[in-house]
Amino acid sequence: MQRTVATAKAIRGTLAVSANKSISHRAAIFNAIAEGEATIEDFQRGADCLATIDCLRRLGSSIRTRGESDLLIKGVGSRGLHEPASVLDARNSGTSMRLLAGLLSAQPFLSVISGDASLNARPMARIVDPLTQMGADITGRDGGRLAPLVIQGGSLRGIHYRMPTASAQVKSALLLAGLYAEGETTIEEPAPTRDHTERMLTKMGADLQFGEGPAIRIRPLARELEAISLRVPGDISSAAPWLVLAAAHPDAEVQVTGVGVNPTRTGILDCLSLMGADIRLDNEQFWGGEPVADISVRSSQLRGITADGDLIPRSIDELPLLALAGCFAQGETVIKDAAELAVKESDRIRTTVEGLRALGANLEEREDGFRVWGPQKLRGAVVSSHGDHRSAMMLAVAGALSKGETLVRQAECVSISYPHFWRDLDKLCQPKS
Ligand code: S3P
Repeated sequence: MQRTVATAKAIRGTLAVSANKSISHRAAIFNAIAEGEATIEDFQRGADCLATIDCLRRLGSSIRTRGESDLLIKGVGSRGLHEPASVLDARNSGTSMRLLAGLLSAQPFLSVISGDASLNARPMARIVDPLTQMGADITGRDGGRLAPLVIQGGSLRGIHYRMPTASAQVKSALLLAGLYAEGETTIEEPAPTRDHTERMLTKMGADLQFGEGPAIRIRPLARELEAISLRVPGDISSAAPWLVLAAAHPDAEVQVTGVGVNPTRTGILDCLSLMGADIRLDNEQFWGGEPVADISVRSSQLRGITADGDLIPRSIDELPLLALAGCFAQGETVIKDAAELAVKESDRIRTTVEGLRALGANLEEREDGFRVWGPQKLRGAVVSSHGDHRSAMMLAVAGALSKGETLVRQAECVSISYPHFWRDLDKLCQPKS
């Protein structure tokens, strides 16, 4: 599918974006192995989270849907999963594959987990190596570096692990394995990554220590996890296209309601604020242990910044949008320490540079990020998402900010995380007559 995006004359509106993908995956997986029943309100129904549900059902968990977006999960307990009769399909979802691999390493049966062409080309040694150190019997293509992964679950032992790359998926896989291991598991991150796993498992009764000192520590389950019902906040990664669009457009005012503002996820707000964006947070509250707020942004005079270090894991999925914001900022914007972008759903350094250059942007590809020179006037062109949902959304927003029409190829992939993205773009953008 391809989508045409017209120049937006003005950007106005209030909307709620799709629910937090990371929290939805975790709510499904953790409640599936808990004791009791949970209702997850506003579970995200994008293709990635549906892949997790599909895998969990094949493993014997009882998951029903209610209405458009609620999920009812009856936990089978920590030892209640069973051997799947066929290959588990994580499709495009790294979170499904990596978190489930941690869990499956400790289950007394064989599982095979595979994905689509993009996922089966993404690095898996980052989980295979530490899980193997914990005693897991896990292998995959290319000596365990690539999926499909074959996991013969069994008993594990706790380890101390210093993660070479900042990755919440790796951390979460090890925490899940640690729930079943003998002894303590401690994990040190090179920089803080999203802590949804730590918050949720703690609420469910796991013996977990985090946020104090450099290491996260988990002890094996002494009693079953308690199911928790929660409402999933909006995903800041899905709000970010609208925040950047409003900040960069000369006639814009947008409010996104009910967005998760967990401080491990708000790097994009910090970056946009540093760039001079007019951002306001209202109505701050907590949903299921996660901070939530309404975020408003209006047209702003942006200036270039350098984003690096600890800011990077806190804004990793928003960095292509930050590069776009750089095109509308006065001066140079540099994004570094972000080599991880090259191993996302696509090589996001390459696909971002290719897409924005086609629209006339002046930016350079670096091994660990981008260099962007602004301000520039973008002009409509034919661009492709390369099947990457975040690229599709960034290019759509870039199109709305360009002069003339933009055609986004492979536009359907937004459904991986934000099924109503195109409808919401139409809702916010008033086309130039
Ligand atoms: C995620 C962690 C991040 C992020 C991904 C979702 C998660 O990946 O890019 O979209 O839910 O844990 P890494 O763990 O590879 O950094």
